[in-house]
Amino acid sequence: MIEKREQTIGVGTCNVSDLAKRYVREVLDSNRLTYGPFSKKFEQMFASAHGCKFAVFLNSGTSALRIAVAALKEKYGWADGDEVLLPSITFIADLNVVTNNRLTPVFVDVHPKEYNMDPGKIEAKITTRTRCILPTHLFGLSADMESIMAIAKKHSLRVIEDGCEASFAAYRGKPVGSFGDISCFSTYQAHILTTGVGGFAATNDPELAVILRSLANHGRDGIYMQIDDDNNKTNDELREIISRRFTFVRPGYSFRATEMEAAVGVADMEDGLEDALRIRRDNALALIDVLTPFADTLQLPTWPNEDKHVFMMFPVVVKDASKVSRDALINYLEQYNIETRMMLPLINQPFVIKQYGNLGPELPVADHINKNGFYIGCHTGMTSDDFAYIGRVFRQFFDEHGKT
Ligand SMILES: Cc1ncc(COP(=O)(O)O)c(C=O)c1O
Repeated sequence: MIEKREQTIGVGTCNVSDLAKRYVREVLDSNRLTYGPFSKKFEQMFASAHGCKFAVFLNSGTSALRIAVAALKEKYGWADGDEVLLPSITFIADLNVVTNNRLTPVFVDVHPKEYNMDPGKIEAKITTRTRCILPTHLFGLSADMESIMAIAKKHSLRVIEDGCEASFAAYRGKPVGSFGDISCFSTYQAHILTTGVGGFAATNDPELAVILRSLANHGRDGIYMQIDDDNNKTNDELREIISRRFTFVRPGYSFRATEMEAAVGVADMEDGLEDALRIRRDNALALIDVLTPFADTLQLPTWPNEDKHVFMMFPVVVKDASKVSRDALINYLEQYNIETRMMLPLINQPFVIKQYGNLGPELPVADHINKNGFYIGCHTGMTSDDFAYIGRVFRQFFDEHGKT
């Protein structure tokens, strides 16, 4: 019997660097806690890392998605009830932001091995009311953006990339976030880059950039979004700003983040980001190594060679439920202090079933993953001892269950 470890191998970790502490201290000493030099710098760094000209730093990835949908709805004049295509395996926020914007979600099945929206399943779901495709880059792997963008172009659809789990990933050499009209990211705990809470809406479209910033700031007139916007102006410019700066041009939200979060983000981008991405990839390879003996039973991650996978998590799918029970396996892992999560089930959530019925039969891949998928951590706090331990616990499980 393996001796159970005392310390849990979690699905995420957090390590606040000395540089981050120093920058946060600078913010506190400056008495400038809202949008300031760190927020501006973080936006510029993050935008450029994702092939975008503009990025708006927000209080969450969900806020980013919420205003991304609202901005496109406004710019392109979508009507209430128009349809947005979503992957049927993704975080619940994607569904919520669509319905919160009074649009209709349409679920598309996912790829059986990569788990992202399956481009081969998209066109069958397009109707005269379809306006947008919202693919997620799940667990750090880009969706098949070339195929998705080709379908979007053919049918004149807009695209929002949900990159919340895939900051700094790349698809065929191009950063995720650089394909769609707007891309959204999260810097919440356990994500690739962590600021506590936080997120970005990024775009290359200057008009959308203004709408996004306005939506995040109560719907303010774009002429005045933060307290430096009236600095160094001519008298004429100042008069114009004063006449418009308490003007609200659309219904908006209060989705701003603070300078403290931006300071942590800037520090993490300046110091250690490349190392962190390399460690995540090495961890994934180490996990694949210890779990390959069970690969007849367990589907381990695969990804196209030309893509940069950032491994926010390590997904595993039991191939054949008649051979091994996913629930028995995850309960076993948890008993041995290896933390697990379900693989972002969406269509089987209680309120989704209540609202849309049982979608399992028409989305068989998602249905299979919901019943058989889970993930474990792949983060920078994991060690070679952890991987060896994980391998031993799986071995013992399969020995006891006698199936592989
Ligand atoms: C795929 C995906 N979309 C959206 C979100 C929402 O991000 P946040 O938690 O920052 O609101 C998450 C967060 O976990 C996510 O994983």
